[in-house]
Amino acid sequence: MLKMIKSSFSSRSQFFIFSISILLTISCLPQKHKLGLLGEKAMVVSAHPLASEVGKDILLLGGNAVDAAIAVHMALAVVYPQAGNLGGGGFMVIREKYGEVHSLDYREKAPLAASRDMYLDAQGNPQPEISQNGHLASGVPGSVDGMVKAHEKFGSLPWSALINPAIVLAEDGFNLTEVEANFLSSYSGNLKKYSTIDPVHYTGKVFKTGDKLVQKELANTLKLIRDHGREGFYAGEVADHLVAEMRRGGGLISHEDLEKYQSIWRKPLTGNYKDYRIITMGPPSGGGIILLQMLGILENHKISKNKFSDYLHLKTEMERRIYADRAEYMADADFYPVPVEQLVTDKYLKERFQNFNPDKATPSTEIKAGDLLQESEETTHFSIVDQEGNAVSSTTTLNGNMGSKVLVAGAGFILNNEMDDFSIKPGFPNMFGVLGGEANKVEPEKRMLSSMSPTILEKNGKLFMVVGTPGGSTIPTSVFQAIVNVIEFDMGMQESVNENRFHSQWKPDWISYEKGYSNEAIMKELRAKGHELKERNSIGKVDAILVREDGTLEAGADYRGMDSAAGF
Ligand code: GLY
Repeated sequence: MLKMIKSSFSSRSQFFIFSISILLTISCLPQKHKLGLLGEKAMVVSAHPLASEVGKDILLLGGNAVDAAIAVHMALAVVYPQAGNLGGGGFMVIREKYGEVHSLDYREKAPLAASRDMYLDAQGNPQPEISQNGHLASGVPGSVDGMVKAHEKFGSLPWSALINPAIVLAEDGFNLTEVEANFLSSYSGNLKKYSTIDPVHYTGKVFKTGDKLVQKELANTLKLIRDHGREGFYAGEVADHLVAEMRRGGGLISHEDLEKYQSIWRKPLTGNYKDYRIITMGPPSGGGIILLQMLGILENHKISKNKFSDYLHLKTEMERRIYADRAEYMADADFYPVPVEQLVTDKYLKERFQNFNPDKATPSTEIKAGDLLQESEETTHFSIVDQEGNAVSSTTTLNGNMGSKVLVAGAGFILNNEMDDFSIKPGFPNMFGVLGGEANKVEPEKRMLSSMSPTILEKNGKLFMVVGTPGGSTIPTSVFQAIVNVIEFDMGMQESVNENRFHSQWKPDWISYEKGYSNEAIMKELRAKGHELKERNSIGKVDAILVREDGTLEAGADYRGMDSAAGF
């Protein structure tokens, strides 16, 4: 891999510096440590150790945080097929060293041929099977255009240097851990079922620990992207493979959809909490709005770790009201007038919370479809700070685990099932159990509502934290908890990430807590206030970086996954 990176450079001294410094770098696999990896200068935290290493190598070569983000994105597309992607989309929030902020929306779009009722049967019943799996579930991918635009605006290393590490990983393969081997084996049936041509390198065997996953077609697609940039994906051979796959499988994405797709630089959503400035993602994500609403309400209340059930009650009551707002008002603001400013004003939040009772839960109406919550919530987030102090917070996704489970034959990448993030019928929950209405209905070329919340915090005008997570509808509430644990409960970054998480979202009307949480006293207090509690698998995988008082960087890499920090 280094050879490939090196070949992108002419200067021998530059490579010598790189080789020396690599010996001095530190990297680690996360366990449940209290203190995260510390770095003097730079840090990358992502869902996969190999991707974090790629990001660190790019920083060591003199690349900036955006260069590293592009390389990490491409590496995750190879080593983390459940969510890393070429066939998906996402959001990137950037803070430059002197404080200029930017956000890039490379969210997928509905194909031109999409229509409001495309997921209803003849009787008008929703068919989540086709909004979640197979060819009709895919939106027009945005990731490659997003990475190209990020590079055009901020890239300092050659584009090829950022793609080469991913090509090596795909072409030479990488060894699977036990968890990865089990994951791939368990998804092979679905990949076979939904792809029109059996992707045998994924489905042809039961994987074992240490097996090498080689992805030749994906390597070829990455080479085309390396050599032709945007055109390497949205035109030519790869586009032909994608459109042919759609035709064979009854999907909608056409050459015209691919030609027309553009990612967009948008003004980031910003707000304040005490001495902190929050820089996050606005529509088509509702995640940033939800985060600012929660912090806005919190600012009017006192919380303490000693009264933890009061804090959880307060948090749940906020979530109940805010997720009702989400269902009504949040969508792609290019198609629907999302009242962003109003939703985050102090006046509105005070009114919204007027009927809060500190002793009693406010019941939400019960819905049956809430049990859909057990669906997977795969997305992936990474946080990067470079040696200059530039920061990138980036969340990207295929939506569910392995997206639509369609692998584009000949091109070797998996397509998203992001269309399920639209409201396929008003009042019908998506795979995360969240409801939507008219605002988020399917329309051609519209972006589906997201919860992804890549976020950066400043304290007194200086970089303070870079944070984000996967987790579908639980994303904004996990980011909220990661922030509150540090600011209000005085935790370090890794400690904050380790902490148990809780989630609630209006409907279904309960508090989810992570398996293994066993504080009976807190649960009893919550039940006494009228809350129902339900155990579920882990919530989110927060990957974050904290700038400590002495200027060193502390990584928080989530032990819930294979998440890993690499820094120096
Ligand atoms: N697909 C998950 C999200 O965008 O929120």
